[in-house]
Amino acid sequence: MNFTLSEEHEMIRQAARDFAIQELLPDVVERDDAQRFPTEQVRKMGELGFMGMMVDPKYGGSGMDTLSYVLVMEELSKIDASASVIVSVNNSLVCYGLQAFGTEAQKQKYLLPLAKGEKIGAFCLSEPEAGSDATSQKTTAVDKGGHYVLNGTKNWITNGGTASTYLVIAQTDPEKGHKGINCLIVEKGMEGFEIGPKENKLGIRSSDTHSLNFNDVIVPKENRVGEDGFGFKFAMKTLSGGRIGIAAQALGIAAGAYELSKKYSKERKAFGTEIKNHQAIAFKLADMHTRIEAARNLVYKAAWDKDQGNNYDLSSAMAKLYASEVAMWAGVEAVQIHGGNGFVKEYHVERLMRDAKITQIYEGTSEIQKIVISRSILRD
Ligand code: CAA
Repeated sequence: MNFTLSEEHEMIRQAARDFAIQELLPDVVERDDAQRFPTEQVRKMGELGFMGMMVDPKYGGSGMDTLSYVLVMEELSKIDASASVIVSVNNSLVCYGLQAFGTEAQKQKYLLPLAKGEKIGAFCLSEPEAGSDATSQKTTAVDKGGHYVLNGTKNWITNGGTASTYLVIAQTDPEKGHKGINCLIVEKGMEGFEIGPKENKLGIRSSDTHSLNFNDVIVPKENRVGEDGFGFKFAMKTLSGGRIGIAAQALGIAAGAYELSKKYSKERKAFGTEIKNHQAIAFKLADMHTRIEAARNLVYKAAWDKDQGNNYDLSSAMAKLYASEVAMWAGVEAVQIHGGNGFVKEYHVERLMRDAKITQIYEGTSEIQKIVISRSILRD
């Protein structure tokens, strides 16, 4: 067993770190305050190949492995988890879904510009009454022969306003339950497709989250991804990989909070010495370091499983469950270590603490991960 990163992986990690420090850090507090989308930074991430990392170069991607993607997600998230969720949704949910299950024509038309970062994608599963219970889709895609007629509402859609390409999960045949669900590619600008107001969020504030309304939107049959009725399994398979990306995001948030806390503990003095010399602080840092390393091992193992062609439903759920718990806990600890300064935006840890919360909610809450894990371990 080799726990050392290859030279190539180290280079990718360094490139992401340099980008995060040079391009994301300078305005991260202002973007968070204003809920301003990092348009220019996303464009540059496209040029660096971060928007389609695991996509075959023939479809405009970087052709890298999942571990490379995880390393990039970790480094971006240390500085700006809003930017990293944009990357994660585009890579794991949209590009992966199209590459794995799309037709050649769909790959040429939709995947190529998404993988190059020229366009942004969104994954539309959640609804006002179908978040965790994803089989209860109320959005309908009625089969009219040559096309579907799409009606309904989607909620909390990441990249909702900025995307051009939307993968929309909808019910075609309610009698068939989850086997009657389809995934349709919807383009911004299709008649009857309306983007609702932007959400005002606790965290990941500069990412762009909207509700979406579909009113008799006509979607051609060739825009269905996979066979008729494959939509729910498409969503589940895609989310399994998505959870590795979000686990890496959570890992990065935790590691960012730890790195800032460690630095601060060497600078800040109290009771006549740097606070690192007080066990109350040193032990917090020891706990943070240990739990983050444990989370990192779970996240890298899930990425490795995917790269090896192993089933990764269990490892991705465990990685997301644990890394998101560590992120939330480490964010709170980091604020505590920083004391009054931790409560002030310029010190960054309050933002990391706020950003951490969503990692326990999206792409399946912690409770959903426990359903996936317990079903997997109790199956036999
Ligand atoms: N791969 C392939 N097939 C799968 C699968 C997987 N990982 N998981 C389930 N399935 C299949 C099952 O085998 C079953 O098929 P059969 O009937 O043919 O055997 C079918 O799907 C239904 O599965 P379940 O009976 O397990 O379904 P369930 O209703 O019990 O729900 C669940 C399972 C795990 C709870 C699921 O509903 C779930 O994951 N919910 C959470 C949804 C979620 O993560 N939403 C996130 C929204 S996207 C987002 O957050 C993006 C963002 O903004 C960042």
